[in-house]
Amino acid sequence: MSNRLNAAPNDLEAFWMPFTANRQFKKAPRMLTGAKDMHYTTSDGRSVLDGTAGLWCVNAGHCRPKITEAVREQVGEMDYAPAFQMGHPKAFELANQLVSLAPEGMNHVLYTNSGSESVETALKVALAYHRAKGDGSRFRLIGRERGYHGVNFGGISVGGIVSNRKMFGTLLTGVDHLSHTHMPDKNAFTRGEPEHGGDIASELERIVTLHDASTVAAVIVEPVAGSTGVLIPPKGYLKKLRDICTKHGILLIFDEVITGFGRLGTPFAADYFDVTPDMITTAKGLTNGVIPMGAVFVTDAIHDTFMNGPEHLIEFFHGYTYSGNPMASAAGLATLETYKEEGLLTRGAELAPYWEDALHSLKDAPHVVDIRNIGLIGAIELEPMKGEPTKRAFSAFLKAFEKGCLIRTTGDIIALSPPLIIEKNHIDELVDCLRTVLNEVE
Ligand SMILES: Cc1ncc(COP(=O)(O)O)c(C=O)c1O
Repeated sequence: MSNRLNAAPNDLEAFWMPFTANRQFKKAPRMLTGAKDMHYTTSDGRSVLDGTAGLWCVNAGHCRPKITEAVREQVGEMDYAPAFQMGHPKAFELANQLVSLAPEGMNHVLYTNSGSESVETALKVALAYHRAKGDGSRFRLIGRERGYHGVNFGGISVGGIVSNRKMFGTLLTGVDHLSHTHMPDKNAFTRGEPEHGGDIASELERIVTLHDASTVAAVIVEPVAGSTGVLIPPKGYLKKLRDICTKHGILLIFDEVITGFGRLGTPFAADYFDVTPDMITTAKGLTNGVIPMGAVFVTDAIHDTFMNGPEHLIEFFHGYTYSGNPMASAAGLATLETYKEEGLLTRGAELAPYWEDALHSLKDAPHVVDIRNIGLIGAIELEPMKGEPTKRAFSAFLKAFEKGCLIRTTGDIIALSPPLIIEKNHIDELVDCLRTVLNEVE
């Protein structure tokens, strides 16, 4: 017999929280109960400045009326429509709007419900594309050390974050990894793209030579690696990867789950770096974080390869019950409208110089060993405590929250990615808070 009726509403035990130190959290919970624009409200009534756009997703700020209203209206009008063999207008309307924002030639999207699912979808499209072309010996996938591509098996296989991989067995076979691009000895305190390390991309030639190009299906990288602690691509690196992929008929996938939708001051990182991949994976900012949704952008060449055979047959055996869900589609449309009306997809470019100067003003604060920035992304890397890696940054996170600022830490790196509606006074407040915190942490 369930004891559901007796369960205390404030019992925190049942929920096994994701990517969280559960025991620590449940001893001293950090509960958010409200949000508006740049701020959260906590359960004890405090206002907290959002330095992370939730989890890199609330690009237009919180509880924006157009988006919340669109979802409210949609749920009253039609709650769900089957995603397979049926359609509803908003999913098509949103797809059209999305491709109009994307780099030229990327005219099709497949919907998902998260960044992780976008990655799985893109990897499967890559394998199936080569096979549909009669090139089925291309089965290898190349990722990169320190890459984060979500938490599903394909994503952790091509990903390169050790703690996300080591517990989970053999993962996908036929995967290889490029070296990461972090060179703190040469590039510390670089503003924007680092000078050193562009040549690391040539390693792809070595990997391709080892396996033979005829076995390699795709390379997947984050244009700016986020979850590992913000690694900005060295000058020329992404162009070189593109050239090598093109030369060998390998698909290049940009995982833009955090860089998509204005984070760098351009709609996509592909625009910022002027490098067009064959697929772009997105999620997060697509619906401003309001309803889970992702999209994988693919080129005409990829899409058209599948559009063969008898017309009554399914062309690609993949999809999710909630692909293009009506509420998510409504949220996506209202989000894109908000971005457009307020110029948010390019606002980051205007604010980036101020953001950069503000972050680098922390150069002389205690424990700081590197500061990196691009668009409205920033990272402050701290010297780890002796024998206790991650502890210093985690205590900075706790202190910042106490003082009214939400930051994010990974390893000993503080990562920042505020909503794109941030104002200069918020940037000053965030940096002042960080300075106080860095002066106080051990
Ligand atoms: C580059 C990248 N890919 C994939 C993901 C996974 O997204 P989700 O948590 O929505 O599955 C993330 C999440 O942070 C990400 O940064």
